[in-house]
Amino acid sequence: MPNRSDRDPDAGRRRAAAALADARRVLVLTGAGISADSGVPTFRGEDGLWRDHRPEELATPEAFARDPRLVWEWYGWRRRTVAGCEPNPAHLALARRAARDEGFWIATQNVDALHEEAARRVSEGGDGPEDGGEEEGAAPDRLLELHGSLFRIRCTGCGRRAPHREQVDASELATLPRCGACGALLRPDVVWFGESLEPDVLEAAGRAARTCEVCLVVGTSAVVQPAASLAVSAARSGALLVEVNPEETPLSARADVRLAARAADALPGLLGD
Ligand code: OAD
Repeated sequence: MPNRSDRDPDAGRRRAAAALADARRVLVLTGAGISADSGVPTFRGEDGLWRDHRPEELATPEAFARDPRLVWEWYGWRRRTVAGCEPNPAHLALARRAARDEGFWIATQNVDALHEEAARRVSEGGDGPEDGGEEEGAAPDRLLELHGSLFRIRCTGCGRRAPHREQVDASELATLPRCGACGALLRPDVVWFGESLEPDVLEAAGRAARTCEVCLVVGTSAVVQPAASLAVSAARSGALLVEVNPEETPLSARADVRLAARAADALPGLLGD
């Protein structure tokens, strides 16, 4: 029954939790809202990242070609902001479930690497008092970073990719990082407006969407494609669509269960964590 949870949130929560417990295949689609509870700014909220910046001035290949120093300055600031943030109970609940369940996929639009960090903590057993440390982190191939990662770089010349957490000195063009192999400028390994998602990542996410029994959508305004269409594809393929978001989104009307809640409050309970 669509949106029954709007009238009876507890019934909605129970229905979603039962479906998640029973499902053999689950796709979780996350957006900036899941990291809001870790203190990472969202894009479109009141203090959102796009409030003070025009995306086309900073997050496009043209912007980088025009003024790579300015673009690196902004990404350097975003990296510093995120580096001080910790995974919250929502990231950790997802990481724990992913670690024990091979049918559990996480597709995130976030570039903050907090899902990866949660998986690392779960695998090392340092994420909670009751954790025995025997679980393995979410396999990288079931954690799909649709828009890339702030903490990877890509060469604009030879395309080489690498993890990169060091601070970038963006005070001058001459101090920007360059490729050790070909000498070209390095850029953040994120997907910018006007660029396509990595075909392998998108293909894997599309397959997970078409085959999942439950699609859990957390903390996204669901306005950026093709990420938002993954949830629609899952619903069309018969998956139960569960949305966790304090605000309504274009997906809300299609959701079988809509929970108007914060991710860090709702997810541990939904996942039996
Ligand atoms: P948005 O900033 O558009 O949306 C964040 C969503 O999170 C909103 O719907 C909020 O209501 C919700 N939200 C806020 N706090 C929350 C909380 N504590 N728990 C749950 N939900 C909460 O961010 P995205 O939808 O992720 O793309 O944005 C999608 C893409 O647009 C980003 O990946 C980025 C941006 O342009 C690129 O940079 C390519």
